[in-house]
Amino acid sequence: MKTKNTRNIFLTPEIASEYDAYYQTETGKLVDKIEKEIISGYLRNLPKTNWLELGFGTGHWTEFFSENGLQLTAVDNSQAMLKIARSKNMENVEFLQADAARLPFPDDHFSGIISITMLEFVDDLGLVLNEIDRVLKPGGTLVLGCLNALSEPGKNKNNDPVFQHAHFFTPNEIIEMLSRFGSPRLSAGVYFSLGFEILDGTEKQSTAEPAFIAASVEKQK
Ligand SMILES: C[S@@+](CC[C@H](N)C(=O)[O-])C[C@H]1O[C@@H](n2cnc3c(N)ncnc32)[C@H](O)[C@@H]1O
Repeated sequence: MKTKNTRNIFLTPEIASEYDAYYQTETGKLVDKIEKEIISGYLRNLPKTNWLELGFGTGHWTEFFSENGLQLTAVDNSQAMLKIARSKNMENVEFLQADAARLPFPDDHFSGIISITMLEFVDDLGLVLNEIDRVLKPGGTLVLGCLNALSEPGKNKNNDPVFQHAHFFTPNEIIEMLSRFGSPRLSAGVYFSLGFEILDGTEKQSTAEPAFIAASVEKQK
């Protein structure tokens, strides 16, 4: 059952409790590996202190960021997700339940903000982008992982019980969304065939649209 009238399906405890199971499937493991390679490329040359993660979910990515030395404050508005993430006992992470549209931090506070597939599920994208802009220091970096509207999962999202609640982004929408901060850099991966077979590393990938688009932008000083 969905909680209240919101796009955020992850407020529902049943959905939250099933979330990590995907990463245990063969497809989930492969997708995770490809996405982490892409995001690692963006983090490699950035300072590691004073990061904010938005929409930490079950803490699956938080664990990866923490293992890679990022010092993080992590925010999600789902009590059910918070409970699961906290149970993982991560070091160097402060977990907070808060709405990304009303962040409890002062202006120009963070050196970096990272968010993996959260903006797709927020109720008011404009408010969340304003908050990101407000709490990110000038010269700081915003890194996003997004779901591509042009990919097979994007085109078929209404057949999926979770994705049907999401707004997938086209590459142009991502560029438009980030251009207020500076000049975004995009990379992509996770190519699915029509039968949802992963094509990365095969010749066939050139015939498909990537499902995952990562973007990074430095906020103008
Ligand atoms: C698809 S999950 C992604 C979780 C994690 N980043 C990952 O990739 O495994 C989206 C997350 O965004 C959170 N979320 C959605 N709207 C939010 C909001 N307005 N404020 C904070 N978190 C939000 C949800 O509760 C959920 O945990």
